[in-house]
Amino acid sequence: MARLKSCPPLAIQSGHDGWLFDESGRRYFDSVSSWWVNILGHTNQRITEAIVKQANELSHVMLGGCTHEPAVKLAERLSLRTGKHLGHVFFASDGSSAVEIALKQCFHAKSIQGQTARSRFACLRNSYHGETIGALSVTDVPLFQDSYRALLNDTFIVASPDNRANNEKEALKALSDLLEEKGHELCALIIEPRVQCGGGMSMHSVDYLRQVRRLTRHYGVYLIADEIAVGCGRTGTFFAWEQVSKIDWPDAVLLSKGITGGNLPLSVVLSSDEIFESFLSNDFTRGFLHSHSYTGNPIACAAANVVLDYFDEGLEKTIHQQTNYLSHAFSRFEGDSRISALRQCGMILAFEVNNAGENFAERFHLQGRAHEILIRPIGNTVYLMPPYVLTQEVADFLADAIAQCLDAVLS
Ligand SMILES: Cc1ncc(COP(=O)(O)O)c(C=O)c1O
Repeated sequence: MARLKSCPPLAIQSGHDGWLFDESGRRYFDSVSSWWVNILGHTNQRITEAIVKQANELSHVMLGGCTHEPAVKLAERLSLRTGKHLGHVFFASDGSSAVEIALKQCFHAKSIQGQTARSRFACLRNSYHGETIGALSVTDVPLFQDSYRALLNDTFIVASPDNRANNEKEALKALSDLLEEKGHELCALIIEPRVQCGGGMSMHSVDYLRQVRRLTRHYGVYLIADEIAVGCGRTGTFFAWEQVSKIDWPDAVLLSKGITGGNLPLSVVLSSDEIFESFLSNDFTRGFLHSHSYTGNPIACAAANVVLDYFDEGLEKTIHQQTNYLSHAFSRFEGDSRISALRQCGMILAFEVNNAGENFAERFHLQGRAHEILIRPIGNTVYLMPPYVLTQEVADFLADAIAQCLDAVLS
C-alpha cells in the first residue's frame, strides 16, 4: 500500500479483445492476460451470452446431493481430454483451493491405503503454487513465505530444471536421490509442467517430465501437475502434459485461471481412478472431505464449457500461429546485449534484463503504461502471456512497446 503514491492503480473502465480502457479512454494491451486468466481477451461475447443464459436458468445449486448439466458436461469433456485417464473431477473456485484439495486427496488416499508415514510433499525450487497455508507450503518464493514461515508445513524442496542453466540431468539426479532417501515419507510431488511461471518463467523439456513420471511411479509417490497457469492452451496444447504423454498421466492435474476465460472464478482437480477408488466407502472418515460452498457453480461451468468449445473448434491451431507471430516479432531482441535468455514456450515469452537497477519491475510497469501495455515483470524477468487474440501487427506492436520501455528504463 505504501507504494500507491509512486505507482497508483489504473482505474480500468472497460475491456475488449486484448485491450483495456481506463476512465480517461486511454488504452492498454493486456500483455499478461490479467494474471494469466483472460486467455480469450476481455468481454468475449460468446462467453457473456452463455453466462447470461445460464444465470437465467440456474445460477447456483449445491453439489451436495444435487447435480446439474453444466458441471457434468464440463467434467466429462475434461476427462475425455485426458483420454479418460483422469476421470474424476473435484470443483473449487480458485487455484490455491485446487492445490489444497489435491494435497489433501493425495495424503488421504495414501493413508487409507495404509501408507500413513507418507505425510510430506515435495516441490521444485522457485516454484509457485499459491498462497493459502497448504499451497504456500509447497511454494518456494521467500518473498511470499517469510512472514508466514511458522505456519507452513515442512516440504522437501528439490532442484529445479532450467533450460538457462542446462541442468536437467542434475535436477533429475537430485529428485532421484530425494526419492531414494525420503520417498517413504512422501505422498506427492507437485510441479508445473513445461514452465515454472511464478518462479520467473523457467522452462524445461518434455523429457525431464517423462523421467519425473517414471521416478515418482517407481517410488510410489503421487505426481500432481499444477496446470493452473500452463494449462488451457498456454504452452500450445490444452494440457501441457499432453506433450509428455497421452497415456501416462500424472495422478492429478489442476486447472483454473483460463478455464473460464477469466470470466468467473473456477478451478478443477482431475484425478485418477486409484485416488477416487481409495475413497469409495460407506465409512465417512474414508470419504474425501472438502466441503466447498461454490463447488461446481453452474454459471462458471457454463463459461468453461464455452472455452472448451473454442478448443473443440481448433483453438490450438490458432495458438500455434500466434506463437509464431510472437517469435517473429521478438526475434529482433536476439543478440541485444541489454537482455539475456530470450525464451519462449507456446504463448509464454520471457527474457531477463541485465543490470536492471533498483525497482526495475515497477519502473518498467510504469513505462508500459506510457506505451499502452499492461505488463508486470517478475524481478528483472520481463514476460508476456498475452490473450490468444494476437495478429502479427499486435505482436509487432508489443515488441515495439517493449523496446521503447527498455530504452526508457535503461537510459
Ligand atoms: C501455478 C499456479 N498455481 C496456483 C496458483 C494460485 O491460484 P490462485 O491465485 O487462483 O489462488 C497460481 C496463481 O498464480 C499459479 O500460477
